[in-house]
Amino acid sequence: MVVAIDGPAGAGKSTIAKEIAKRLNITFLNSGSFYRAITLSLLASKVNLDDEKAVIDHAAALDIDYVNSRLVLNGVDVEDKLHTDEIDANASKVSSYVEVRHIVNDKIRKITKKISIVCEGRDMTTVVFPNAEYKFYLDASIEAQAMRRFKQGVSSMSLEEIKAAIKKRDELDKNKAEGSLKIASDAVYIDSSDLTIEQVCEIILSKIHI
Ligand code: DC
Repeated sequence: MVVAIDGPAGAGKSTIAKEIAKRLNITFLNSGSFYRAITLSLLASKVNLDDEKAVIDHAAALDIDYVNSRLVLNGVDVEDKLHTDEIDANASKVSSYVEVRHIVNDKIRKITKKISIVCEGRDMTTVVFPNAEYKFYLDASIEAQAMRRFKQGVSSMSLEEIKAAIKKRDELDKNKAEGSLKIASDAVYIDSSDLTIEQVCEIILSKIHI
């Protein structure tokens, strides 16, 4: 079984997807962490992110695995290194390269072949798992998105700066050649701006019948 959740940055997808997976006792998969890990490696190796071929070659040579819902890059658990301002600002560009998307999608499909999952990202409901049993689009106002990121306390930016950065990122994510963020016609749309985590979970769980 696949429960797929898409939506913009800061809509609460990770928190919600993790909780839903826990309650259904199935695996949680955060597809954004694959793009973030590739970006982490590119930045560490000082690859020019505007050089598409260099980015693709670098990404193709990486050994990416996902163990217990944690990203493992070349044998090292990098999960705790993926949420920096620098990676936030650059992962969108890296994920805009079609070949990079194919590398990530192949990995995800392989890793999840024989297991039930709750996955979240931008194109889980549309490209990666178009036949998912359950699809959701989790939205939030730009104010709610920025406030959530601000409250995480991991950014060194002001609330206004975070708002501008998220706006820019969502624009990029909505205008990709492939895998752009859009609402699947068969997805349940949920605006989480004024809802608690528990309320969103209840809406989602009420649609899932197992
Ligand atoms: O969900 P996130 O913020 O961790 O995602 C990091 C970046 O990766 C973000 O810029 C969007 C991109 N992404 C994507 O293009 N497709 C996905 N399925 C998931 C994330």
